[in-house]
Amino acid sequence: MNVLVIGGAGYIGSHVARYFADRGLKIDVLDNLSTGTKDNLFPDYSFFEEDILDYKAVAAIMRRGYDAVVHLAAAKAAGESMLKPEKYAVQNLTGTINILNAACEAGIKKFVFSSSAAIYGEPKYLPIDEAHPKEPANFYGFTKLEIERMLEWYDRLKGLKFAALRYFNAAGYDPEGRVRGLEKNPANLVPVIMEVAAGLRPHLDVFGTDYPTPDGSGVRDYIHVTDLADAHYRALLQLDAHAESFAVNLGSERGLSVLEILEAARRITGRPIPAHITGRRPGDPATLVASSAAARKLLGWQAKFSDMETIIATSWRAYAQHHSHSIH
Ligand code: UD1
Repeated sequence: MNVLVIGGAGYIGSHVARYFADRGLKIDVLDNLSTGTKDNLFPDYSFFEEDILDYKAVAAIMRRGYDAVVHLAAAKAAGESMLKPEKYAVQNLTGTINILNAACEAGIKKFVFSSSAAIYGEPKYLPIDEAHPKEPANFYGFTKLEIERMLEWYDRLKGLKFAALRYFNAAGYDPEGRVRGLEKNPANLVPVIMEVAAGLRPHLDVFGTDYPTPDGSGVRDYIHVTDLADAHYRALLQLDAHAESFAVNLGSERGLSVLEILEAARRITGRPIPAHITGRRPGDPATLVASSAAARKLLGWQAKFSDMETIIATSWRAYAQHHSHSIH
């Protein structure tokens, strides 16, 4: 199968690209390197540096002949999306419309899309399954939900078969240590903790310890990127075998608190990792935990690398390697 991985130089995309190539899929990567990096590319596939906002360029690449597209190119900082909705409207919505139209024009019928738990908003019940009400609490989540709706119409009108993969909190790095690019200016918990451990930031801000959770800090469902990559692979095989669209949650089904992760990171890295307790970050729910029963049933998927130790140890390996000069 020939697959175009859009956003394949990014954090999740690079793990997906590596995983696919390891399993013998013929892949190419398209990325504009705005958040992705060349360090995340490998010599066994081709790379096209293009922007998804450039319709002609995307359409020309699609005409090279692919069986499927995996689309992971998006802006993803939920907080920023509330301050700069226009950026998210253009990059996520316009960018995806370009990709969809170019894919349809080129006759591509299989499409795997990076969706998010952010489409659900404030949880009405836990764990969150796919039937949970979809009321995004931030503009980022809104863009993901709108794209899912668009995919349903393109299925009905154009015969495009899609898999919408609703990630919970992606974390960790390739267990074999091959993905080396780090995210620039991360806002997510694990990379921020890693930057503190590596000496690049003075401390972690813990956004609230007054939540109705066991230790008062926010609880999330952290899922290792290699488990996400495996789900993309299985989703593609499923679309190939059954040509029927679907949407599934991808989570470990277990909640970890900010303070638990901080403590584990101190232990695993051996670094002090100073932390300040600050106020809540607006829009952050207390607890988000997935039900991944649907992915298990449909794809035979199960998280294998998403225990806290593996998530932190694989992340630290990537950060320690990259910043060995600043770690004493
Ligand atoms: C958010 C989105 C998620 C999206 C992800 C990508 C929501 C509800 N979730 O996840 O869909 O895919 O961003 O960026 O919109 N924290 C701190 N200090 C920090 C950073 C985070 O205490 O410096 C805490 C947060 O309050 C939260 C947890 O750590 O409790 C995880 O936060 P983060 O990594 O930013 O992810 P989410 O906000 O859960």
